[in-house]
Amino acid sequence: MINKIAVLGAGTMGHSIAENFALYGFNVNLYDANKERIGSVENDIRADLVLLAEEGFIEADIIEKTLANLHYYSDLEEAVYDRDFITEAIPEIMELKQQTFKQLDEICPSYTIFASNTSSLPLSDMWKLVSEKRRERMMITHYYNPAHIMPIVELSHFGNMPEVIYQEIEELFKSIDKQYVKVNKDVPGLVANRIQQGVAREVFSLIEQGIADPEDIDKALMFGPAFRYATSGQLEVADMGGLDIWCTVGDNLLAVMDNRKEANPLLKENVLQGKLGAKSGEGFYKYDPETLTQKRNNFNKRLIHQLKASKFYMK
Ligand SMILES: NC(=O)c1ccc[n+]([C@@H]2O[C@H](COP(=O)([O-])OP(=O)(O)OC[C@H]3O[C@@H](n4cnc5c(N)ncnc54)[C@H](O)[C@@H]3O)[C@@H](O)[C@H]2O)c1
Repeated sequence: MINKIAVLGAGTMGHSIAENFALYGFNVNLYDANKERIGSVENDIRADLVLLAEEGFIEADIIEKTLANLHYYSDLEEAVYDRDFITEAIPEIMELKQQTFKQLDEICPSYTIFASNTSSLPLSDMWKLVSEKRRERMMITHYYNPAHIMPIVELSHFGNMPEVIYQEIEELFKSIDKQYVKVNKDVPGLVANRIQQGVAREVFSLIEQGIADPEDIDKALMFGPAFRYATSGQLEVADMGGLDIWCTVGDNLLAVMDNRKEANPLLKENVLQGKLGAKSGEGFYKYDPETLTQKRNNFNKRLIHQLKASKFYMK
C-alpha cells in the first residue's frame, strides 16, 4: 500500500506533482538540491491552490489541508529514507538521474518504488547504477505540465516490473483521478510527446512558410483538430470520418508536408536571438512583464475549466 511519497526536484514539474499527491491526502516529502528553491516553493504551491479554489475546482478549506501534507527538505536522505514511492523531477541529464537513482537505491528500503518523470531518456539507461532487484521496482511516470491540472500520466509497462506492483501503481493514479496511459515499449517520448511533436512540426513549418499568421494557425488548431481531440482520440476520429477518406487524404497531403528529422530552423533562429517565449518577453507572441502573471493564470484557468468539463466524459 502506497502512503508515503517523495518528489525530488521542486521545479516546474516537481512542485506540481508533489502538490497533486498532497491534494488527495498523501503525505509528501518534497526535496530540492537548491536550498533557495526549497525556501520559496510553498509560495508557488499556495498560489496554484488559490487559483484552483478561485475557479471552484476545490473548496477553500482544502488549501491549508493540502499544505499540511507537504514537507520540504534539502537533505536527500531525510526526505526519502521511509518512503513507499519516489518520483524524480530533476533536470533531464542522464548522469544526474543515474547518480540520483544509485543514491536512492543505497538509502531506501527494498520495497520503495522509484519513478522518473523523464521526457526523453530510456529507463534502461537511467537504471544502469541500480541493483538488479530494484529494477523490478523502477518505472517512468510521465506527467504533463501543469501536473496538478493535466489529467494524463504515462506509465511504463516494459516488463521489468511484476504485474502486481504495476497494478498497485495504476491504483495509485486512479486514486488521484489521473488518466493513466500504459506504454508497452521503452521508446523516447513515450506516446503523448511523440503525438505532440508530430503536430508541432507541421505548425512550425506552416509559420516558416508564411502560410498563415501565428494567431490563425493557433485558431485553426484550437477550433479544428484540437477541439475534437479534447473529447475524442485520433483513432476514434478516424473511425468516425471513415478510414477510406483518411487514406486518400493521407496519400495526397503527407507527401507535401514537413518531414524534417530535427527542430524547425525558425525555432533555432528564435532561440539564437534570445526569443524564448513568455519567459523572455517574446516568442511567437509578445509578452508584457506587467501582464505576464495574469496571462499565465489565464492559461491555467482555461485548463482548469477544461478539466472540469472533462469530468462529463472521463471514464
Ligand atoms: N517542464 C515540462 O513541461 C516537463 C514536462 C514533462 C516532463 N518534464 C521532465 O521533468 C523533469 C524536470 O523538469 P522541470 O521542467 O521541472 O525542470 P526544472 O528545471 O523546472 O526543475 C528542476 C529542479 O530540480 C532541482 N535539482 C537540480 N539538480 C537536482 C538534484 N540532483 N537533486 C534534486 N533536485 C535537483 C533544481 O534546483 C530545480 O528546482 C525533467 O526530466 C523534464 O524532462 C518536464
